[in-house]
Amino acid sequence: MTAEAVKVLTRAGEVFGRKLELEHLPWGADHFLQTGVTIPKDGYDTLRGFDAIFIGALGDPRVPDNRHARDILLGTRFELDLYVNYRPVKLLDERLCPLKGRGPKDVNFVVFRENTEGLYVSVGGRFKAGTEDEVAIQEELNTFKGVNRIIRHAFQFAKARGLTKVCMADKSNAMQQGHALWQRVFKEVSAEYAGIQATHYYIDALAMYMVLDPGQFEVIVTNNLFGDIVTDLGATFQGGLGMAASGNIHPGKTSMFEPVHGSAPKFAGKNIANPIGAIASAALMLETLGMTKEAAAIDAAVARAVRENQVTADIGGTLGTVEAGTSIAKQIGQVEG
Ligand SMILES: NC(=O)c1ccc[n+]([C@@H]2O[C@H](COP(=O)([O-])OP(=O)(O)OC[C@H]3O[C@@H](n4cnc5c(N)ncnc54)[C@H](O)[C@@H]3O)[C@@H](O)[C@H]2O)c1
Repeated sequence: MTAEAVKVLTRAGEVFGRKLELEHLPWGADHFLQTGVTIPKDGYDTLRGFDAIFIGALGDPRVPDNRHARDILLGTRFELDLYVNYRPVKLLDERLCPLKGRGPKDVNFVVFRENTEGLYVSVGGRFKAGTEDEVAIQEELNTFKGVNRIIRHAFQFAKARGLTKVCMADKSNAMQQGHALWQRVFKEVSAEYAGIQATHYYIDALAMYMVLDPGQFEVIVTNNLFGDIVTDLGATFQGGLGMAASGNIHPGKTSMFEPVHGSAPKFAGKNIANPIGAIASAALMLETLGMTKEAAAIDAAVARAVRENQVTADIGGTLGTVEAGTSIAKQIGQVEG
């Protein structure tokens, strides 16, 4: 999938006359297994030197504890302080949606997932591990700074795009400490945005309403774990995990883009995985870099591929990963955005 995204990026650069300088870093499971290095000592500084980072899915059965993924993916999110996980949920064609009677006008919203705190910070420990007395503690971190900046980002995004609805989801009925902070900040920030309707759902209700009535959502903001889960649900509305794109963003700084899906090991090496999630993530990257024409051209080429069924089997086509990528690349600049 990553190779196909690179193919499409390169083509977009050529068509619009803005050559992209791409540098490939070998970090991943193969590199880790060969060298024992997950990410080099100066790795995060190296990454800060780029305008943007594009990353493929991590996860390899040969590394059961996923150590390389933790250092490369979560490590980069934390070290580069990429606090916005931006995940658009946009249905391109009614036939891809498993929800009865729903089409593109019903499924078109974005999720902002807090990306640097929550349950992912790995604070905690295991006591008497491996015994029947084992105690496992995993702390959820919520700071005013972290909650404030992601909620504020959601409102700023809505305002900038002319959207009028922001929904925050937490579990403040049960998680009465950390999520009280989310409640407080949401109230404070929403009061500054008079034209925007601020709604709150508990996360379990959000999951239900996403299925029952996805058309009510424009912008959803939530914490790290909940955002991870509801965007897999959102991906199914788009046609599956193979379709979903994401950006790990610190506005104004080097940001990182990746498909929502993992490494789908059962597909590895078979030329059947859908490259659209990766390709759409590359478009998000260009959009964030201000290359809006190039990004729109990629999105248009993807939409046409879906419309004409020039796609992989998971969404009803007959093409392989490489052929689907090539077909999209060829369309860049040929179809209107
Ligand atoms: N951001 C990441 O790098 C990331 C995200 C999630 C999981 N992972 C890792 O990936 C590995 C596999 O995890 P998983 O099986 O839970 O999730 P996964 O996203 O890899 O796959 C789940 C299922 O979604 C479908 N799918 C995923 N990508 C697809 C694609 N491109 N085209 C078509 N269908 C696709 C497949 O049916 C697949 O079995 C694990 O090691 C996990 O830790 C990594």
